[in-house]
Amino acid sequence: MTTIEETLVLVKPDGVARGLTGEILRRIEAKGYSLVDIRLVEADRDLLAAHYAEHEGKPFYAPLIEFMESGPTVAIRLAGNRVIEGFRSLAGTTDPTTAAPGTIRGDLGRDWGAKVQQNLVHGSDSTESAERELALWFR
Ligand code: TYD
Ligand code: MG
Repeated sequence: MTTIEETLVLVKPDGVARGLTGEILRRIEAKGYSLVDIRLVEADRDLLAAHYAEHEGKPFYAPLIEFMESGPTVAIRLAGNRVIEGFRSLAGTTDPTTAAPGTIRGDLGRDWGAKVQQNLVHGSDSTESAERELALWFR
């Protein structure tokens, strides 16, 4: 059975700054997912606060927002069969140090320091998150 979904993928400022947008898009396209829309965004505090609302109050929240404000992000509306779960699998687990080799974070992500969360990409984690986040980044 096919379940065509849409998800929000972000190439975070570290990915854009390191010139990895093309490599990340290559992996996404090679997997067979479809780019529906794509834009370069200088995310402001309001957008980031809404996007990361679930993490407000956590110790990594302030440095995360600061990092996400540090440069442009590539926002992608991505479609495909079970793409929400599929992209997160392609991305690998949150911490690049332990993300599996073969994943975007495992192959390309750098160890994160105390202040920055440089794990290259974001992918929505549920249909509800995808709908909410797509509305924020593609208004
Ligand atoms: P989270 O939504 O838990 O991870 P994911 O991006 O894999 O869905 O966290 C959002 C971002 O916050 C994550 O990509 C990197 C950062 N972060 C930290 O810096 N430290 C942490 O302990 C966690 C859990 C996240
Ligand atoms: Mg998340």
